Amino acid sequence: MLLWEETLFKDRDLFELDHLPEHFLHREDQMNSLKFCIRPALQGGRPVNALCLGPPGTGKTTALLKLFEEIEAHSSKVIPVHVNCQMDSTRYSVFYQIYRKVFDHFPPSSGISFKRIFEKVAAAAVEQDKVLVVALDDINYLFHEKEVDHVLYSLLRAHETCPGARMGVIGVMSELALNYVLDPRVVSVFQPEEIIFPLYTRSEIRDILSRRGQMGFYPGVMDDAVLEEVVDCTERSGDLRVGIDLLKRSGLSAEKRASKRISLDDVAGSCDRSRLIHLTYALKSLKDDELLVLRLAAEQKSWRAGDLFVRFHEETDAGYTRFHEILNKLDSIRLINADFTGSGERGRSRVISVRYDPEEIMSRLSS
Ligand SMILES: Nc1ncnc2c1ncn2[C@@H]1O[C@H](COP(=O)(O)OP(=O)(O)O)[C@@H](O)[C@H]1O
Ligand SMILES: [Mg+2]
Repeated sequence: MLLWEETLFKDRDLFELDHLPEHFLHREDQMNSLKFCIRPALQGGRPVNALCLGPPGTGKTTALLKLFEEIEAHSSKVIPVHVNCQMDSTRYSVFYQIYRKVFDHFPPSSGISFKRIFEKVAAAAVEQDKVLVVALDDINYLFHEKEVDHVLYSLLRAHETCPGARMGVIGVMSELALNYVLDPRVVSVFQPEEIIFPLYTRSEIRDILSRRGQMGFYPGVMDDAVLEEVVDCTERSGDLRVGIDLLKRSGLSAEKRASKRISLDDVAGSCDRSRLIHLTYALKSLKDDELLVLRLAAEQKSWRAGDLFVRFHEETDAGYTRFHEILNKLDSIRLINADFTGSGERGRSRVISVRYDPEEIMSRLSS
């Protein structure tokens, strides 16, 4: 029995989603690619631009934060700035964050233009002989009103308006192609090195969660069968956040029973709730037409792809190629199942079904 002031958690913080893990496993290739891009900056030159691509919960933000931590510890030549574009989604607020990092205080809050903020940042970087590396995390939030063009254009042509300025950009998003949203003039200066973050495999998920559990729980709290159950639930969403949240909820559930060990029931009882974390994050990475397909797909238990396309086409002008792309994306981030049937009078066709309770999808889409 657990005494009421006792706990299973050796370190609760390890189960918070904004915790930066001490051990960042299975991302050596991506970290090496990022370092390769940054290397010229460490030697005082312009960094190679990069674009990190991959589904939610595959370690993109963590990779950047790890990289920046390392840069700050070892180099005084580079100023790394991490911008969360979901929070800062205009060129003004992006440069506001950059200014804050460069000057260590906020810019004057009123009466200063975007252009002026930018000029001050660029001039300060030149004067201090520093290279600016700006990570635009979840850059898709800048796609409205061409904000992304303004931001990239300013950063990447800074050396023209402010001689001697050296800046580089690391973009992060869950899309596969950026070129078609960008102005051609921006494309000609951006040309990033693409760094792919694939879904973690089952054994990678197991490694990462096992390590997290060993560090965060007291010995004996989580046995192998429990870990395997957590891995199962995580793998179905592909999103590591689900696993971390599930470890936490399972631990809390065991504590509630005053047990010193997590049981399979503790995990099973929390899996559905934890999986919703993935749903919430995944929806944020979708465009309007992708959200529409998901909403339509959730109207029925399952659809033939052709019938779903007819419904989609009633509401948009988009053609089958785009529809097909959307299905592939929703499938790859594990919001829908899109399996081929073996038979059918029209030959092989795809059957579409949503992977979540339709009500959970609808409630998030309407809010
Ligand atoms: N390789 C890894 N090792 C340990 N923890 C990881 C790893 N990859 C991701 N995480 C954890 O999973 C969660 C989601 O990762 P994050 O970097 O935010 O994903 P993304 O930005 O791709 O959506 C974070 O809490 C992070 O600590
Ligand atoms: Mg992220």
